Amino acid sequence: MCGIVGYVGANQAAPILLDGLSKLEYRGYDSAGIAVMTGDGIVVKKKQGRLATLSEMIDGGKAVKGTMGIGHTRWATHGEPSDTNSHPHLSNSGRFAVVHNGIIENYLKLREYLTKKGFEFMSETDTEVIAHLFEYYYKGDIIDAMINVINRVDGSYALGVLCADNPDSFIAVRKESPLIVGLGEGENFIASDIPAILSHTRKVYFLENNEIVFINKDEVKVFNTDREEVSKNVYEVDWDISAAEKGGYEHFMFKEIMEQPRAIADTVKPRIKDGRIVLDDISLTADYIRNINKVYIVACGSAYHVGVVGKYVIEQMVRIPVEVMVASEFRYCNPIADEHTLVVLISQSGETADTIAAMREAKRLGARTFAIVNAVGSCIAREADDVLYTWAGPEIAVATTKAYSTQLTAVYLMSIYFGQELGLISSAQLRRYIKALEDLPAKIEKLLENKGDIQYIASKYFNTKSVFFIGRTLDYAVALEGSLKLKEISYIHSEAYAAGELKHGTIALMEKGTVVVALCTVGNLFDKMLSNIKEVKARGAVVIAVAEEGRTEIEQEADHVIYVPKCDELTMPSEVVVPLQLFSYYVSSLKGLDIDKPRNLAKSVTVE
Ligand code: AGP
Repeated sequence: MCGIVGYVGANQAAPILLDGLSKLEYRGYDSAGIAVMTGDGIVVKKKQGRLATLSEMIDGGKAVKGTMGIGHTRWATHGEPSDTNSHPHLSNSGRFAVVHNGIIENYLKLREYLTKKGFEFMSETDTEVIAHLFEYYYKGDIIDAMINVINRVDGSYALGVLCADNPDSFIAVRKESPLIVGLGEGENFIASDIPAILSHTRKVYFLENNEIVFINKDEVKVFNTDREEVSKNVYEVDWDISAAEKGGYEHFMFKEIMEQPRAIADTVKPRIKDGRIVLDDISLTADYIRNINKVYIVACGSAYHVGVVGKYVIEQMVRIPVEVMVASEFRYCNPIADEHTLVVLISQSGETADTIAAMREAKRLGARTFAIVNAVGSCIAREADDVLYTWAGPEIAVATTKAYSTQLTAVYLMSIYFGQELGLISSAQLRRYIKALEDLPAKIEKLLENKGDIQYIASKYFNTKSVFFIGRTLDYAVALEGSLKLKEISYIHSEAYAAGELKHGTIALMEKGTVVVALCTVGNLFDKMLSNIKEVKARGAVVIAVAEEGRTEIEQEADHVIYVPKCDELTMPSEVVVPLQLFSYYVSSLKGLDIDKPRNLAKSVTVE
């Protein structure tokens, strides 16, 4: 997600803004910019690329004079990384400058409306509508203008706004995207996260949703949207910088596991409109979908595991044959594909060499390419015929969690969209699926509340030498991901097995103390899984079962049971994976390993 910093005080603003943004670089970004209130009005300096490039351009901030300003590091969601798409965005008159973190879900409608009103857009971003809305609503009172703007906008936002009519104060607001106020002596700050201002003050306000803050160097006032002043408690930060970068969590991986409800909500909500699934500007018509002769899902690692879930979901939903392949195999297996073949490429980074090569091979064969990508403007996103972005925000830990989870929701969205466009799902089913997606973040929040139970289980088995993950159909697909997570960050050998396949050889490995994680959430296969648990228990295995709440009979068979909330079987994989992520995290933590940067691994494998 993006980073925001704001400053007003007695010192030059630009160097303070650049320093604050440098403390937010860990969040991942693709461009940076600042807006400073100078003697000649608002001056904006912004640039695609690293913060150092921007800093060099303005001589470390010395080239822009003024004691108040806002700054931004951008993680692109709407509009590729470019100078023009970087923040801050100016209104046409130059009177307002805006920085934003979040997603404006109704920006297309607002852009259309404002264009008709004569406003001229310079960028492809959702954020720019905010700058023009201020111009549109401003009648001299900046707080009133802010209230009108946020009443018009749907989505998530943390905003910093400069107005040239107010050279000594600026305003900000928060809804869903975090924003704090730093309280200094004769100076005050805003920031997306504590590290940006920790070197100046440890006294902060944490803004709540729809709290508007008015800031000058001596005063901070917080208002609600009824323009009533709100009193805030001052929080004294006792974190050091490195802890603060992880939002107080010990590791980025844990922070990203905890961010999954928000990431899923950000990815799903903008794609549900008036009770239907809309896939942005994806141009897959019903006619095209009807004539698909085969779907390939091609990816690597965890993204491949998402594809295995996708196979089950798409084939169940629309009865189109789906073949899932690892990208490094697809590109050399002389695949059968033509203009009626849809090749879905899944990639968090959008820069994985094997997946890029597979995409190019698919295009060479005349197939249509559909990418599910997290990094906006990445190679796969740029070259695929269509791209459906996940909005997980930047993922820092090498072991993926929130990107995997948002890729799952993107696959659900695509499958339901196919069924909806082909008329294969009734309106009742569509309502059911959409409710399952909308309920998912809260169910994962509930799961995360029980993380202590999983920490206890991990404490009993973190020294084991191997772990088997078993399941059937969708549970098997998630078992693949659970096994990889454990291998990646704890270096414990692990295998994922289709539970029904164990008896065909691998069960020979079962002996006293072998740890087996049995995923038992597919309703019609629960009894089969009970049999598989008995099978391995009979050979001395220790079984950790994952089951849907209420299936308490499993307690007769398994040594430990982790329950997940009841939900539609469509979204159950998104629940089941969470305890497996946590199990791996706690095992690795107990082994004292480098969880965020495991040995031998890279976050993006850009070589073959
Ligand atoms: C997942 O935890 C691993 N880091 C790895 O398997 C990863 O999923 C794989 O390299 C694919 O990366 P991508 O999604 O960026 O293409």
